[in-house]
Amino acid sequence: MAELKVIILAAGKSTRMKSDTPKVLHEVAGKPILRYVLEQAASLDPVEIVCVVGHQAERIEAAFQDFPNLSFVEQAEQLGTAHAVAQAESVLRDFAGDVLILCGDVPLLSHATLAAFLAQHQETGAKASVLTADVGDPTGYGRIVRDSTGAMKEIIEEKDCPPELKVIPEINSGTYLFNAPALMPTLQQIGSENAQGEFYLTDAVHVLVMEQQVVTGVMVNDEREIIGVNNRRDLAQADAIARGQIMLDFLHNGGVTIIDPATTYIDADVEIGRDTVIRPFTCIRAGVKIGENCEVGPFAHLRPGTVMEQGTKIGAFVEAKNAHFMTGAKAGHMAYLGDVEIGHDVNIGAGTIIANYDGAKKHKTVIEDEAFIGCGTVLVAPIRVGKGASTGANTVVPKNRDVAPGATVVGAPAREIKRKE
Ligand code: UD1
Ligand code: CA
Repeated sequence: MAELKVIILAAGKSTRMKSDTPKVLHEVAGKPILRYVLEQAASLDPVEIVCVVGHQAERIEAAFQDFPNLSFVEQAEQLGTAHAVAQAESVLRDFAGDVLILCGDVPLLSHATLAAFLAQHQETGAKASVLTADVGDPTGYGRIVRDSTGAMKEIIEEKDCPPELKVIPEINSGTYLFNAPALMPTLQQIGSENAQGEFYLTDAVHVLVMEQQVVTGVMVNDEREIIGVNNRRDLAQADAIARGQIMLDFLHNGGVTIIDPATTYIDADVEIGRDTVIRPFTCIRAGVKIGENCEVGPFAHLRPGTVMEQGTKIGAFVEAKNAHFMTGAKAGHMAYLGDVEIGHDVNIGAGTIIANYDGAKKHKTVIEDEAFIGCGTVLVAPIRVGKGASTGANTVVPKNRDVAPGATVVGAPAREIKRKE
């Protein structure tokens, strides 16, 4: 099999988003759009991934600094998608394999779809392949024009599209495979005589077809995979699609009970164990890990960094952020629990607040095993509550005034009234 390199296009100005944040850093189900695309690329095991950046390049590079096997090239002026690919010339030099080109704003392609696309491209020996879809509403996308035999002829952009072609339901997903040696000479023949005055990558199809080269169009089964995010409406739509898939995966494959999927919001990259029950109006943010046999909600907000070990409970109106619940720990009602380790079988009373922020910095709290935190307790971080200790109702424990193991403290500020042997 030919070697594979991936070029991802993410230099555009994202004008239609009307945002100070570059489009590819906007989130779908709690995860930046570009991270989806990078993960798709990586799942095909390419020798190299190159991302073309321009508008707010520094922000995008900083956000993905840690991503393996990834480098960036700059497109200083955004003159179109063909011009963007041409900036990655150094990547293509002396490379005889295939190049997958992905749009940085198309987040929901599945690995299965891309793997099948690659297999088909390699089997047909095409110089170029385009991933297409038949869609209910093709507005905004490039239309795929085929000849009478069904062979690919060209792609016409929405803005250049005469009315008779606007009705074509087959659109360009913005995902292409090229035989690398054929790509650069093809790009050099693309002009910018079109409605937007841009160098369109889509014109590569016409160039190759005129040279009698084989160009194939491969259709995806599920049009929801190819959604391109150009504006906030697309973003909301992509978000709904992604969340729907996440929900179905937990229900079908995960053995998780979700009482009301319509009012439950689960981000990408969340883990939930078997026989856990998620009650209505609950929001579980990206990266949260929940073990088996847990109970969450109703009205719970689990923010990033939260880990619930098996058999733990987070109930109504509890917000947890970077909170680690060890087996048997419970917070049944109305609490804010931030930057905290909560030991085995700890009970957090209603109204407990962990004051983790002093106005400048966040501090950590540790509540050791079997501690009992009374209703309305405020723990001012940094603080440690010892094993088996208790706080009375409305206790305020000042920062650095650790509660000894087995101690009972009451009042504001907290004072010790007894200690277990
Ligand atoms: C593009 C395709 C269209 C397809 C659609 C799929 C072209 C000309 N059109 O249209 O046929 O149906 O995607 O979603 O390619 N970019 C750069 N540099 C540039 C211009 C764009 O890197 O100079 C990047 C953008 O950041 C974006 C991607 O390329 O990630 C696509 O550009 P965009 O302007 O969104 O193209 P569409 O109009 O959606
Ligand atoms: Ca787009």
